[in-house]
Amino acid sequence: MDYGKYFSADVPSFLKSPVREIFRVVDLSQICSFAGGYPAAVTFPTDQIPSLAEKVLAKYGTKPLQYGATQGIPELRELIAKRYSVPVSQVQITTSSQQGIDVCSRVFLDPGDIVLADNPVYLGALQSFKAYRAEVLPVISSVVEKSRPKFIYVIPDFNNPSGKTMTLEEREEIVRIARELDILIVEDSPYRELRYSGEPVKSIRELAPERTLQLGSFSKIFAPGFRLGWIIGPEPLLEQIYVCKQCLDLCPPVFDQYLAAEFVGSGALDANLVKTIAEYRRRRDLMVGLLEKYMPQGVSWTYPEGGLFLWLTLPENIDTVAMYDEALSKGVAYVAGCFFYTDRSHRNTMRLNFSYIDEAKMEPGIKLLADIIRNAV
Ligand SMILES: Cc1ncc(COP(=O)(O)O)c(C=O)c1O
Repeated sequence: MDYGKYFSADVPSFLKSPVREIFRVVDLSQICSFAGGYPAAVTFPTDQIPSLAEKVLAKYGTKPLQYGATQGIPELRELIAKRYSVPVSQVQITTSSQQGIDVCSRVFLDPGDIVLADNPVYLGALQSFKAYRAEVLPVISSVVEKSRPKFIYVIPDFNNPSGKTMTLEEREEIVRIARELDILIVEDSPYRELRYSGEPVKSIRELAPERTLQLGSFSKIFAPGFRLGWIIGPEPLLEQIYVCKQCLDLCPPVFDQYLAAEFVGSGALDANLVKTIAEYRRRRDLMVGLLEKYMPQGVSWTYPEGGLFLWLTLPENIDTVAMYDEALSKGVAYVAGCFFYTDRSHRNTMRLNFSYIDEAKMEPGIKLLADIIRNAV
C-alpha cells in the first residue's frame, strides 16, 4: 500500500534528529557516550518525590488529578512570576520548553517565512521551524539586510550546542536588529539557572520585554520526565499562545505542576540547584582538564560558563561524520557538529555533553576520542 499519499504537505519538511537516531541504533550505556543532552540522574530529587506527592494530595485533594487551566495552575504561574519579577499575566506554563518553541512556531510562522537563528542552532528548534516549512538563516547583518524575517531565535545562555554565552553587547545587537525590523525575539533559556562561573548577563527579555518571548524549562533544574516549562512574554502574544495550546494538550500536566509548585515554593528547588550546579561545575572542569591532557594540537574547544555542552573544533581536514562509525565501533559517541548547521557545513566540529556520562567513563572516553582524532589528522 502506498501510504505516502495520506500525509500532509508539512510531512516532507519533518527533520529526523540525528541525536535520537543514535539512541535508536546503539545502546549508549555500553559505550562512552558524549552524545545526547540528558541531565545527570544524581541531580534529580528522587528521594523527595514521594513526600512531595503526599503533600500535594493532602493539600489539594483530587485537584492534581483533574484537568487544569490551559495557562497552567495559578500556584506555579505565581511562583515563576515571582522568580523572574514579572506579573502573573505574563506567564504561560508549557508542556516543556520544546512545546514552547513549537507553539511559537505554530503561532507566528507561515510556510516560506524566515527565522533568524543561532548558527549552529539547537536541533529541536530547527525541527520545529522546518515542520512549519519556515526557512532558517543565521542572525548576521548581511543576511538580515536581504531578508524579511518573522522572528529571531537565540539561546543566549550556555548555548546548545556551542556552549557559548552571549555578551551584553551581543544581546543588545540582537535587540537592535529586532527593533529595527520590528520583529519578535524568541529567547530560549533552559540553562539560564545553571551557571558555574562568570557573571550573569541580563536576559534579552529584560532588554526588550515588549518583543521577547522567553522560554524556560524545569527539565534541567528539576527533572525532564515531568515535561514542564514556561513562557514569559507580552500578554497579547500569550493570549494567542493560550488559544493555540488549547488544541495541543488542553493543559500542561496538572499533577506534575503541583509537584513543581511544591518543590519551588518550599525552597527545595533552590537547595537542589546548589547541589546540581556544584555537580556540573565539577564535571565541566573534569572534562576540560581531560581535553587539555589528551587532545592533540590543532583541536580547540569552548569553555562553557554553564549548561551541559562543549563544542570542539578539529583541524579542517577532519570530517566528524566520516569518523563517526570508527568512533562508535571503538566505544565512544559524540554528535557531529554539522547536524546543527542548516547547510550541514562545519564538518570538522562536534558537540560533547558532560552531564550524563558516568564519571568513570569520562577519561577513557576522551582518551579514545583523542586517539581517533590523532589518527585522522
Ligand atoms: C536549547 C534547548 N531548548 C529546548 C530544549 C527542550 O527542553 P525541554 O523540552 O525538556 O524543556 C532543549 C533540550 O535539550 C534545549 O537544549
